[in-house]
Amino acid sequence: MFEDWLALKAAALEARGLTRRLNARAADGDLIDLAGNDYLGLARDPRVVAAAADAVRTWGTGSTASRLVTGTTELHEELESALAAYAGQESALAFSSGYLANLGVVTALGGPGTLLVSDEHVHASLVDACRLARSRVEVVPHNDVDTVEKVLAERNEPHAVVMTESVFSVLSDEAPLLELAAVAGAHNAVLLVDEAHGLGVTGGGHGSVHASGLAGLDHVIVTMTLSKAMASQGGVVLGPSVLRDHLINRSRPFIYDTGLNPAACAAALAALQVLQADPDRPAAIHAATAQLAAACEVPPASGPVVSVPMPGPRETVRAAELCLRNGVRVGSFRPPSVPDGISRLRLTAHAGLSAADLDHACGVIVDAIGAVS
Ligand SMILES: Cc1ncc(COP(=O)(O)O)c(C=O)c1O
Repeated sequence: MFEDWLALKAAALEARGLTRRLNARAADGDLIDLAGNDYLGLARDPRVVAAAADAVRTWGTGSTASRLVTGTTELHEELESALAAYAGQESALAFSSGYLANLGVVTALGGPGTLLVSDEHVHASLVDACRLARSRVEVVPHNDVDTVEKVLAERNEPHAVVMTESVFSVLSDEAPLLELAAVAGAHNAVLLVDEAHGLGVTGGGHGSVHASGLAGLDHVIVTMTLSKAMASQGGVVLGPSVLRDHLINRSRPFIYDTGLNPAACAAALAALQVLQADPDRPAAIHAATAQLAAACEVPPASGPVVSVPMPGPRETVRAAELCLRNGVRVGSFRPPSVPDGISRLRLTAHAGLSAADLDHACGVIVDAIGAVS
């Protein structure tokens, strides 16, 4: 019975070309990687690796409990202070993933007295946060500041949180942060900006909120993941200290989850130090993005992801397979991971790619797209 139930669901996905499959990668593979999110190319940097290994020796293999019990180490607090200073925020609080950081902050601010206003392109973690928050939710058209203003003005709830991403994960376009912050401020609302694809990439690495001069404003709060440019795992909520105190007391994904692994804290801290010592690294991401976008004849992206529209999900998978066969790993976006139903190749630019690798990758990708289109 159970198998029949799931077999029907699997057949429905297969018929639409949307079945997902896991592909384990080898540790020593020599593929050119344009699929991972190691934007600054630091996941194998000897300084970052050594910091993580030292943390395991010093603190052990796990954090041992939730943050409020024994799961907060000196490393957690060092990482939080360093990230807050780098992003220009008063405080930061680390969660065990970016997904949980989003769930944690939105649910702690949500409830019947809070309207949640969500851009239609936000990441699944913010969508799920809205579902859990017990708030009324307004999903607004992408980057539509006028509609944000309208729903804020017409609300009955005393509080409101407007949610966006600084650089959107699928299209890699930017949110109008200055306009959104102004509208939120005028209507006694908070602006929550997910900088998953901004940290280490935009604003010279400091992120788009910092670059826009919005960092440190008490109605603009930020979430980040440590799993992309910071070459580690984990997530962070940044904002005023009162927000940090509130989350420590009221955020269930913080309170009831085992603390972030100390080795992950140490790796992220080391990656941040490398970035600070080498502030030109983000520029290499933008140069690689521009080259990939030009080769694929799509507009240049502000973020690290180049999204190449494809005729359909099957062509996307086939093109990705052709790239892999020719030594280049690329990602793919298919429904339901795309906001507009259009399947795409997902190319991520990394600061560590050599000019020869990039030239080779561009040729392979262009040939693969041509072969399936
Ligand atoms: C915009 C955005 N927010 C949040 C997340 C979740 O971060 P993590 O992978 O650390 O859970 C991601 C990761 O894919 C993301 O792209």
